[in-house]
Amino acid sequence: MKNISSTLSSIRKEGLYRDCRYLSSQQAPKVYIEGRKIILLGSNNYLGLCEDIRIKEAAKGAIDKYGVGAGGSRLTTGSYDLHRELEEKIASFKGTESALVFNTGYMANLGIISALCDRKWVIFSDKYNHASIIDGCLLSGAKLIRYKHCDMEDLERKIHMYKESNNLIVTDGIFSMDGNVAPLKDIARLAKAHGIVTMVDDAHGVGILGKNGSGTIAHFNLSKEIDIQMGTLSKALASIGGYVAGKKDVIEYIKNISRSFIFSTALPPSSIAASLRAIDIIREDEERRKKLIDLSEWFKKELVKLGFRVTKTITPIIPVIIGNAENTVKFSKGLLEEGIYVPAIRPPTVPKGTSRLRISLMANHDYEDLKYVLKVIEIHGKRLGII
Ligand SMILES: Cc1ncc(COP(=O)(O)O)c(C=O)c1O
Repeated sequence: MKNISSTLSSIRKEGLYRDCRYLSSQQAPKVYIEGRKIILLGSNNYLGLCEDIRIKEAAKGAIDKYGVGAGGSRLTTGSYDLHRELEEKIASFKGTESALVFNTGYMANLGIISALCDRKWVIFSDKYNHASIIDGCLLSGAKLIRYKHCDMEDLERKIHMYKESNNLIVTDGIFSMDGNVAPLKDIARLAKAHGIVTMVDDAHGVGILGKNGSGTIAHFNLSKEIDIQMGTLSKALASIGGYVAGKKDVIEYIKNISRSFIFSTALPPSSIAASLRAIDIIREDEERRKKLIDLSEWFKKELVKLGFRVTKTITPIIPVIIGNAENTVKFSKGLLEEGIYVPAIRPPTVPKGTSRLRISLMANHDYEDLKYVLKVIEIHGKRLGII
C-alpha cells in the first residue's frame, strides 16, 4: 500500500495539490463559480460552441428520439445510425477512407496505440506528447523512445538506432500546453524515407487550423501522408468523444482489436448528434475561426508588450510561463479574486520549472473583458516580480 498521507502532504508542500472548481453555468466566456460571475480563460471550448443553440437543439432532438443512454457497447446493442453517420462525416472531414468513434480522446489513444503496436514495435514519441499517448504506448508494451520536443535531428538520430523494427512516430498536432504546431512536414518526410507508420493526435487542431477547420494535417496538406489521424470531439467541437481516421482496413482492425473501444458502453445518441451538428457549423463558419485567431494574435501581442514570456504560437493556446509552481498558483489565485479564472498548470502536466498560466481564448470572448484581464494580469505580474 502506498503511503497516501505522506504523498498528499508532499504534493501540498511542493504547491502541486490540485482540486476541482465547480461551475454552475454553461461553459462560456463568463461563468458562475461558487456563486460569482467569472471571466473564463482556460477553456478548450475554443469556438464557443458549448452554448450554441443549434447544437443544443440537435442534442435535445436526439434525446426525444433515442432516449438518454446508449444501453450497450458499440459491438453489442449500443451502436445507433447516428454513430455511423458521425463516422462517415469524420472520414469525409478528415479526407480518409474510414473513421471510428471512441468514448473519449483518452480512450482513443489508449485503444489505437495498444491495438497497433506490441513488444516488437518501437514508438518514437515527442517529449511533450499528451499523457494519453504516453499511456497508450506503455499499454502496448512497445519500446518507447521519446525524442526532444519538435527536434527533427534528435528524431532522425533515434530512428537510425532502431532501423530494423516496426516503427511508429506519434505526435500531437498542436501541443496542448504550449500551443505550438508540430513540424508535420518533416515528420512525414522522415517517416517516408524510413518506412515508418505515422500517427497525429489533433485534439487541439480541429476547428482551428486547416481548410474548413479540419485540422493540422489539412493545414500542412498531409492527409495522404499521415497514416493514423486521431482527435477528440470534446474541445472545439464542444461535445464528447474521440476518434481515429485512416485506411478502411486499419479502422476495421482497430474496431476488432481495441479494448477501450470494445469494452465500454457507447456514447449516448445526444452527444453524437451534438458532434454531427458541430462539424457542420465548423465547416461553414470560417468567420468564427478567423475571429478566434485575430483575438488570440492581439492578446498575445498585448501580453508581450507588458513584458510576459509568451510562447510563439499561431493558435488560441497562450501559455504564460511563470516558472515555479508556487508563484503560478499565487498568480492564478490572485486573478480569481479579481474575477478571472485561468488554471495554474504545473508538473506533472508540464516539465518542472515551467509551470504556467495556460490561457486559451474563445471566439466569443469580448475585447472589453480581455482588456480588463490584461490590466489585472499586469498588476499581479508586477506584484510577483514576473514582469
Ligand atoms: C493532445 C490531447 N490528446 C488527447 C486528449 C484527450 O481527449 P479527451 O479529453 O477527449 O479524453 C487531450 C485532452 O485532454 C489532449 O489535449
